[in-house]
Amino acid sequence: MSSTTSLILIGVAVLFILGIKFLSSPKTARQGNLVAAAGMLVGLIILCNRDGSNVWSHGWSFNYTLIVIATIIGLIIGAIGAYSVKMTAMPQMVALFNGLGGGAAALVASLEFIKNAHPVEIAGIALPVTHETSAAFTIPMLFATLIGSLSFSGSIIAYLKLEGKFEKPMTFPGQNILNGLIGLVIIGLAGWLTFNATGGNAITAFIVMAGLALFFGVAMVMPIGGADMPVVISLLNSFTGLAVAADGFAINNTAMIVAGTLVGSSGTLLTLLMCKAMNRPVSNVLFGAFGSSGSAQAGAAGVVGTVKPIQADEVALLLAYAQRVVVVPGYGMAVAQAQHSVRELTEELGKRGVEVQFAIHPVAGRMPGHMNVLLAEANVPYDQLIEMEQINPSMDRVDVCLVIGANDVVNPAAREDKSSPIYGMPIIDADHCKTCIVMKRSMAAGFAGIENHLFYKDNTRMLFGDAKASLNGLVAAVKAS
Ligand code: TAP
Repeated sequence: MSSTTSLILIGVAVLFILGIKFLSSPKTARQGNLVAAAGMLVGLIILCNRDGSNVWSHGWSFNYTLIVIATIIGLIIGAIGAYSVKMTAMPQMVALFNGLGGGAAALVASLEFIKNAHPVEIAGIALPVTHETSAAFTIPMLFATLIGSLSFSGSIIAYLKLEGKFEKPMTFPGQNILNGLIGLVIIGLAGWLTFNATGGNAITAFIVMAGLALFFGVAMVMPIGGADMPVVISLLNSFTGLAVAADGFAINNTAMIVAGTLVGSSGTLLTLLMCKAMNRPVSNVLFGAFGSSGSAQAGAAGVVGTVKPIQADEVALLLAYAQRVVVVPGYGMAVAQAQHSVRELTEELGKRGVEVQFAIHPVAGRMPGHMNVLLAEANVPYDQLIEMEQINPSMDRVDVCLVIGANDVVNPAAREDKSSPIYGMPIIDADHCKTCIVMKRSMAAGFAGIENHLFYKDNTRMLFGDAKASLNGLVAAVKAS
């Protein structure tokens, strides 16, 4: 590889890192995407062969024609997908794209492995063989095939679960033991192949191993509940990154190593952050079938007080005469698609001099940044969105806290009840404000399937009904007051 190419590849790595940095704020996220995509384009243009040659040093070849055709097809499908997908279907799209990334990484590794194990011809053209069978080549190829295949099939199941195809965890006795056995067979085959990477037997063992890895992806995701899919996708995303990085090591492509490592590490961090925000270990997400009961019986023991309903015109009066109002959005706001009505209400309050802020819990809703995305879609100004840690210390100076379709993320049981499954999970202290209005349809539980102590507090009032309908009622009542 020439020194100019190496320098350009360092530039590509910097663009990827800047892209991820910009993605950390909603204000710069769009630029972040563009910067990282520009890095990917440069990486493609100066694309290197294994021997370090590229289009500039060795001229045009049929390979490059194929790459251009594949890039154009990918661009068209990606653009149509991105423009047509609904905001609420974003997790499905991420799952699908992640699966394709994992599948592509597995295919690259499989082809590299197979053509070195046995001469391969496609359409009468013999694929170039590097006769590389050292462990330094074989191990990354096997790793990329395994992890990429698992990520592919696991992501497709995650996609189907998010589409509501089989949302409930599918469990049976001895499932974890069976999965463990399959895992052991896969590791055994990979170990054997590391030292026996040539010949017909190697190819047979390789195909069995890849098939089992595909099955393992399905078996791993099937027992997990639909609502835990964002965490699973983030984990599978980190697997895809690692598979791509392993491909990069074996085929000597620096851009793939950098991009794969960044995706691998950021996916792992996001998974850990989500689990921390839910106060659940990753093992509980993967093996716990959490939230599958849906009943509100658990946690009822610590409940003290009575439920006090309220009407929209009474809430409108409280809001209109408040100085500071905090909105806590949750999954129910997304279900009701009430984000535009929330913005209308807060604008109306703003006109009356009421200070309005939104308290954002890191796992409110069902995907990372769910509330930020919905509120941005409704043009709620970014500076009104305040993170949980920042807003909690001042919650006791809030006149009215409007909890819109949120449940678990405001449940004081997380602070008060040591026996609660969510004990220790950080929550938004909605119960600390002067008056708390909870907007939901019934007394049904949220994702964790437990009773909410907030609903019974002296300063809480329940405004029952669909969040969008209730908010529209509130807008009309505030305007009339
Ligand atoms: P939840 O605890 O799931 O509660 C949502 C509430 O919305 C329900 O109690 C439901 O009550 C209400 N609701 C549903 N449809 C409604 C509608 N049309 N109008 C009004 N209310 C409606 O939501 P949350 O507080 O946002 O907490 C999120 C939960 O998901 C946490 O437990 C979190 O750990 C988990 N989780 C989050 C993520 C990410 S990354 N965000 C990933 C996996 C799991 P009714 O049926 O009575 O209306």
